This record gives sequence, structure tokens and C-alpha cells, in this order.
Amino acid sequence: MNLIIAGKNNIAVDVLKFALDNLNMPIFVVLNKTENFQNNFQKSLGFYAKRWNVTIKKLEDIYDLNDSIFLSLEFDRIIKPDLFKSKNLFNIHFSLLPAYKGMYTSALPILNGEDKSGVTLHRINSGIDTGEIIAQTEIKINYKDTARDLYIKYIDFGTKLVLKNLSSLIDNSFDFRVQSNENSTYFGKKSIDYNNLKINFFQTAFQISNQLRAYNFREFQLPKFNNIEISSSVISKNRSSSKPGTIIGENDYSLVVSTIDFDIVLEKDLFGLICNYCKTNDYVSLERLLNYKTIDLEEKTKQGWTPLMIAAYNHSLESVDLLIKKGADVNAQNYNLTSVIMYAKSNSLISNSYKIIEKLIENGANIYLKDIYGKNVIDWVKNENEELYEYFKTK
Ligand code: TYD
Repeated sequence: MNLIIAGKNNIAVDVLKFALDNLNMPIFVVLNKTENFQNNFQKSLGFYAKRWNVTIKKLEDIYDLNDSIFLSLEFDRIIKPDLFKSKNLFNIHFSLLPAYKGMYTSALPILNGEDKSGVTLHRINSGIDTGEIIAQTEIKINYKDTARDLYIKYIDFGTKLVLKNLSSLIDNSFDFRVQSNENSTYFGKKSIDYNNLKINFFQTAFQISNQLRAYNFREFQLPKFNNIEISSSVISKNRSSSKPGTIIGENDYSLVVSTIDFDIVLEKDLFGLICNYCKTNDYVSLERLLNYKTIDLEEKTKQGWTPLMIAAYNHSLESVDLLIKKGADVNAQNYNLTSVIMYAKSNSLISNSYKIIEKLIENGANIYLKDIYGKNVIDWVKNENEELYEYFKTK
């Protein structure tokens, strides 16, 4: 019996890891078309398959494998069961089926004001997410959850659901039930046009806050109002008296806009602003902002950078100082586990100043942290700069 894991992201990587550690059977992976072998906010299946010497196959190579289990975990191609010799084909769908078959299931339930969703393990038949249900977990959607928050819940609960049911899939002992036609809904690719996202203000404040949460997924985009990125919203107690979409007030950090019922406060995305201040070492603006509002300093950009990494990399000494005082983690690591001190080291190679490295070490930076290549900052610097290498050896 072979196990084939097809898909992407932490769910595919973590199930692969479990299978390699616990199952005694040939394991193969099939990668999504978008696979780029880079870890981002999710782990890359291609990267780990290579690292763990797992054979990567094309989907077409799987069709003729007789005795096998095919697991689709965020796989991006529609499976046609007729093409497969083995009929043990399973998918995890990120919704509480029969509702929300199809696309964008991290956004649509939020857009529709749902307070729950779920993950479903089902058999793959010839339809889209229409196969018999084997197991599912209901997930609560909190009123502040964004699409990104929900997606991360799907990944976590989905992984647990697969691991819990894997042995029953392998020994063919699972139960299943046909999906009901009641509450069965489907949304296709055209249900949201991500290249043309617009907030519709001819809605209630509650609906608008749902739109803002549904379109909030930092790695893809943040919702915009008048080209300003919005990170969250608060519904005010004031009844709107102006035309929906009218700006009632604005300051550096927020906007108040009228709607069909109550005015809504749109919080501008300050994280992007902070990253920019760190890059340019505008520590005056940075301090003003950090004193104004509590901000999660461990949030990461799409590239996996915290504000402290950006400040260290750009030799923004005063900003580094300030961020450390405000509690930023001096041992933060990006998605390849590159640490703050490695970023500071990269800058020192150019600036010849060790001040930021010194500051980080004084504040508890661990110089032995290893990245995914198994190297720490000293291993890197050994081949890059003799003087800096000698300096690190004294630490
Ligand atoms: P994706 O991995 O493409 O899967 P799916 O559409 O099957 O959910 O996207 C994951 C979530 O990311 C999706 O549910 C909604 C959100 N998303 C965006 O916010 N912006 C985008 O441009 C895309 C493609 C997705």
C-alpha cells in the first residue's frame, strides 16, 4: 500500500512528517502548480519533501498506482476519480460541508456573517467537494477573526482531523455518509474578485466590518479605503446621518465613515507604517506611534520580517533601541529561521559597525540559533568576514 500526499502548506507538511515517522509504507508527494520550494507563513511541501528525501511525483504518475491512498490536502487540481486505478481518494475541505463547497472558504463565511465553519474529511467523487463525509470538526468564528485567522484555524483543525482518521483510511474501516442537499452551497472563482476588491458602504456597519475581516489576509492583501490599508474596525454608537461612505472624521491612525446604520471607525494599518519607520530609522514617528497604541511587534511581513529585523538590517540604531525597550523579541526568526542577529550581521558586513550586534547581544540575543540550513550566525560569518568572525568568537 502506498500513501500519496498532494497539496501545500502546514497541513500537507505536518501530515507528511507524521506519516514518515509512524507509517511503514512507501510515501510519495504531489505538489501544487504554485509550489516554489520556499517556506513562507506556511511551510513548503516541496522544500520538506526534498529535505526528507520523499519522491515527488506528477499527478499523472499516480493514476496507475493500484494499491494506494490518495490524500488531497489543499491540493489545487480537481481530481477525476475515473482516472485513478485506486479509489481510495480523500480530501480535506475547509468548510462545514455541505455548506461552502468550492473556493475562498476563509473569506465567504465571514463575509456572510457566519459564526461557525469547520473542516471536513470526505471521499472524493466526480463533483467539487460533493463526496461522502467521513469526519468533520466544527470551528467557531469569533467576531474579530479575519480570513487569515480562520485559515490558520482550518490548517490546525484540518491537520488534527487527518491524523485522527488516518489509520481508518489505511485499513478501510471508516464510516461515511452522503451529503445532504439541505444547506448545501457552492461558490466558484468569480464569487470574489481579489484583483478588484472594493468595500461596499451601502451596507450596515456590521456587514462592512464583515467585509473588512473577510478581505484581511496580510500575505495576500489588506482591504483598502481611498487607497489606505485598513487593519480592523470598530462600530460606533453614532447613527449615520450622511450618505454611506462619507468620511466623518480622520486622523493619522483612523477614519470614521458613515454607513446605512452606524458610523464605523476604520483603523489604518499601522504595521506597514512601523516597518517603514524602521527601514528609514524615523524613530521619532516610531516612538509616537508606539506610545499611541499597543502594537504586536512580533507580527511579520509577507517576507517573514519583524520590525526589529527590518531595523537591524537597515542599520537603524535608534529604532533598534526603541523596539527592544518596547519588548520586541531579539531572538525572532523569519520563515527560514534567519534570526535578528543574522540580519544585523548582514548589515555589519556593509557598515563595518558592530553597534547593533553589540546591542542585541547585551539584550539576550542568542548567537547559536540555527536557521533551516543548520547554520548559526558564526557559521555564516566564518566564510564572510574574518574580523567579524574573530569578534563573534569573543562573545
Ligand atoms: P487559497 O489557498 O487559494 O485557497 P481557497 O480558495 O481554496 O480557500 O486561499 C486561501 C484563502 O486566502 C482563501 O480562502 C481566501 C484568501 N485569499 C485572499 O485573501 N486573497 C487572495 O487573493 C486569494 C487568492 C485568497
